[in-house]
Amino acid sequence: MKFQGITGGFTEANVEALAVAVFKGEKAASAELKELDKLTGGLIAEVMKAEEFKGDAGQTALLRFAAKGAVKATRLLLVGVGDKAEYRSHSVAALAGTATRYLRKRNVKSFALLPRSGVSAVEAAQQTVCGAITSQFEIDKYKTKDKNNKAVTSVVVCIDGSKPADLKTGISRGQAIGDSMNLTRDLANEPANILPPAEMAKRAAAMAKEVGLKCEILDEAKMTKMGMGSLMSVSYGSAQPAKMIVLKYTPAKSTAKKGEMLALVGKGITFDTGGISLKPGENMDAMKYDMSGGATVIGAMRAIALLKPTVPVLGVVAAVENMPDGAASRPSDVVTAMNGKTIEILNTDAEGRLVLADAVAYAEKQGATQIIDMATLTGAVIIALGDQNTGIMGNDQKFIAAIIACGKDCGEGFWQLPVSAEYSKQIRSDIADIKNIGPRGKAGTIMGAVFIQEFIDKAKWAHLDIAGTAWADGARPHQAKGPTGVAIRTLLNLVEKSQ
Ligand code: BES
Ligand code: MN
Ligand code: ZN
Repeated sequence: MKFQGITGGFTEANVEALAVAVFKGEKAASAELKELDKLTGGLIAEVMKAEEFKGDAGQTALLRFAAKGAVKATRLLLVGVGDKAEYRSHSVAALAGTATRYLRKRNVKSFALLPRSGVSAVEAAQQTVCGAITSQFEIDKYKTKDKNNKAVTSVVVCIDGSKPADLKTGISRGQAIGDSMNLTRDLANEPANILPPAEMAKRAAAMAKEVGLKCEILDEAKMTKMGMGSLMSVSYGSAQPAKMIVLKYTPAKSTAKKGEMLALVGKGITFDTGGISLKPGENMDAMKYDMSGGATVIGAMRAIALLKPTVPVLGVVAAVENMPDGAASRPSDVVTAMNGKTIEILNTDAEGRLVLADAVAYAEKQGATQIIDMATLTGAVIIALGDQNTGIMGNDQKFIAAIIACGKDCGEGFWQLPVSAEYSKQIRSDIADIKNIGPRGKAGTIMGAVFIQEFIDKAKWAHLDIAGTAWADGARPHQAKGPTGVAIRTLLNLVEKSQ
């Protein structure tokens, strides 16, 4: 996909179509629409008068007109964006995505987007590019027939009176973020026979090389030696060896307080059968996505390497397959984690927390003072929050509030659930320090969080349960069905704000 920024009006764009945001209830005579209305011979005013187009969020209308003067485009796509007061920079990404998907379906290869005022030029260009790139991702990689082969190949961002340097910055930032989100989504979409832990590690290492990140892959011998008995117990039943993927970004010049470091830690269960506590067959295929948290870390680290913030960031992915087998761990087994705590495994399907226990402890041992773990950890979070909000829990209210605020900024919802000593009590074990499940049917999402908390020593910590938000069951106007790349933009926002 090619991108270009134009600092003059849309008349300079050599494209097949123009796309413009329209606010709810806006009149065709409003300052920014006037010129377009004239260009189309009053078509905008006409569809608005007939109440065919009201500017409701997600509404689209394609108008055809005869090319005039310097303008080469012959189509104008109106995209409703809802209330003007609600228009934010992230609205531009959804707008660009909606326009891209709408136009590509109609064989349009190039269009110019006219973002509305109210968003800075850098932001508008970044969001346009990011939205266009992520909107074209499809899950049909393995189709040999009937594959989507229509694509928009060129997008022009027109911001009258902007500086060329700002558009250039916005475009390259948008490419870094959009491509990284699509990397995460591609990894999440891979079936487990194609992406076992070793392959996940290989792809992370290739990415690290491409963007200049340090990468270390810990194998089972190393993890065993380091005392990661909790993580390793999940891997016993699998023929695929577990890998711990460690990525490190070090800024050329750091502005972080001495000794401060953020770590992003991801659950990378490449397939979750449940183990001996076997899952029912129905929908088990969805468990190829159980490495989405790890894929999020890999995508976020790629974007961080390209955006070059002035703070260090560590990425840790626990890549493990959870299978039933003669060597698999059984309900009642007791294992010892890296921090010395003993765990009674009462359900081998609560495996995400077992691998994260050692992964967060490892991150802290590497010097992390702030840890964000992300995981498709519980079915319970889907029941509680659906696919609208990611569950967030942690040990530091300021840290949690900062993440929620960063999410709001980029249109990603997080909803906090409580953790407290009363909840932690419920995972005390009769025979070991803790057990890996709480009472049946009670606060399942929180039980996962308080378990992970046992492996945090002094770090500020937040846990993101993305089980409901990591993939979409159906297509949206700006996004295909499947993996969403959720939380990446929020994390990048947080990292950049902390510089
Ligand atoms: N990976 C699952 C959680 C999950 C379920 C994600 C459905 C997405 C959709 C996790 O490993 C799991 O099996 N959790 C159990 C925990 C229970 C055994 C305490 C669950 O949620 O049922
Ligand atoms: Mn499970
Ligand atoms: Zn799982």
